Amino acid sequence: MIIAIDGPAAAGKGTLARRLADHLDLAYLDTGLIYRAVGKMVLDGGADPEDAAAAEATARAMTPADLERDGLRTDEVAQAASKVSAVPGVRAALLEFQRGFAAAPPNGKAGAVLDGRDIGTVVCPDADVKMFVTADTEVRAKRRLKELQDRGLEAIYARVLDDMRERDARDSDRAVSPLEPATDATVLDTSGLDADQVFATALEIIGSRNE
Ligand code: DC
Repeated sequence: MIIAIDGPAAAGKGTLARRLADHLDLAYLDTGLIYRAVGKMVLDGGADPEDAAAAEATARAMTPADLERDGLRTDEVAQAASKVSAVPGVRAALLEFQRGFAAAPPNGKAGAVLDGRDIGTVVCPDADVKMFVTADTEVRAKRRLKELQDRGLEAIYARVLDDMRERDARDSDRAVSPLEPATDATVLDTSGLDADQVFATALEIIGSRNE
């Protein structure tokens, strides 16, 4: 079973995907982390994330061990990830790894949950379940602010909101694999829901897929 979960930043898709994978005993792949690793490696190498040649070369050289790097969860790295992810050669270089994970999940798992921006549209267009998890921008910015503060990082709401708008626009407007719901995805708006309610709704969506 393949479950594809897409949506913008801080909509709750990572928490949901991890929880579904646990509950259903499936493997989990956070595909955003792959783009973050490439973005961080480009920054660490002193290159500009918008430099397509540098970004593509980095994506081609990336290994799964790079997903364990420190510092992948900062907003600076998120912006770099968003920039490298608009480069077609970067997306092409990372596609095979993601599809391979879904086709042959690690640890003998019978399936996988993948979350990202283009899982239902491009990476796994034949996924058994597709969800597009979203929420109002202000709600997502508040969640992101809390997440950063809980990790002891300094953050200002207006800045977090601006960053989120900028990243949403870049991820949605890019020419290749833009952030958009697959035509057969179920949209789950988490604006007024807590994590338990999101999980329960997702289980209902999964349970009703053959009805
Ligand atoms: O999910 P995230 O916030 O960790 O993702 C970071 C960036 O990576 C996001 O702004 C766009 C890019 N990304 C992508 O283009 N495609 C994916 N499947 C996952 C992430």
